[in-house]
Amino acid sequence: MGFYDDEENVETYVQMAEGYDGRELVAALGQHLPPGSTVLELGMGPGKDLALLAEAFTATGSDRSDIFLRRYRRDHPDADLLLLDAVTLETERCFDAIYSNKVLHHLSVDELRKSLHRQAARLNADGLLLHSFWYGEGTEEHHGLRFTYHTAESLTAVFGSEFEKVACVCYTEIDEGDSLYLLLRRSSQALSVPRANVT
Ligand SMILES: C[S@@+](CC[C@H](N)C(=O)[O-])C[C@H]1O[C@@H](n2cnc3c(N)ncnc32)[C@H](O)[C@@H]1O
Repeated sequence: MGFYDDEENVETYVQMAEGYDGRELVAALGQHLPPGSTVLELGMGPGKDLALLAEAFTATGSDRSDIFLRRYRRDHPDADLLLLDAVTLETERCFDAIYSNKVLHHLSVDELRKSLHRQAARLNADGLLLHSFWYGEGTEEHHGLRFTYHTAESLTAVFGSEFEKVACVCYTEIDEGDSLYLLLRRSSQALSVPRANVT
């Protein structure tokens, strides 16, 4: 059982995240993605960014924790939601973009590499990724949760030839320069990766 499979931990996170959302990230995505495009959010948590994404795009939310999905569905009965692990991405559906805000830092570098490979397979041609991370180096564990910090260099070393970098931007969430987001476009080379080889 993971940290976010506990109702109390989820409530604590919801309260802690009060007053924060990813509107700057959603706006950055909107600079590159036409309105109405399909977007999958990974690790939607309380769903504040999902609601923002849904204002401009055809948004699908997902999380590994069913508690967050049930919580969001209470207020949004028609929402399109998937129970999905960001590492394995076990869905046949494809999207114009995949988005996450402070989710993929819970993955090890190997898991992140695998996740990006899976994401390439779930993107339509010219599809985009936008993912945010905590800026820094190394890995820590708090309350059984992994935190892997990233720099532009560490992220560039992970995404490989399936993607082309559009932007990697430092920004502030709590403390000056504590965050960065990576915006990638699926490269035409990804088209030649047979689906059967994506594990
Ligand atoms: C720090 S919270 C961020 C939630 C939300 N994106 C936000 O900005 O408030 C991390 C979220 O990622 C989810 N998560 C962690 N590991 C995951 C994984 N491997 N696959 C999918 N979701 C994951 C957690 O359940 C939680 O909802």
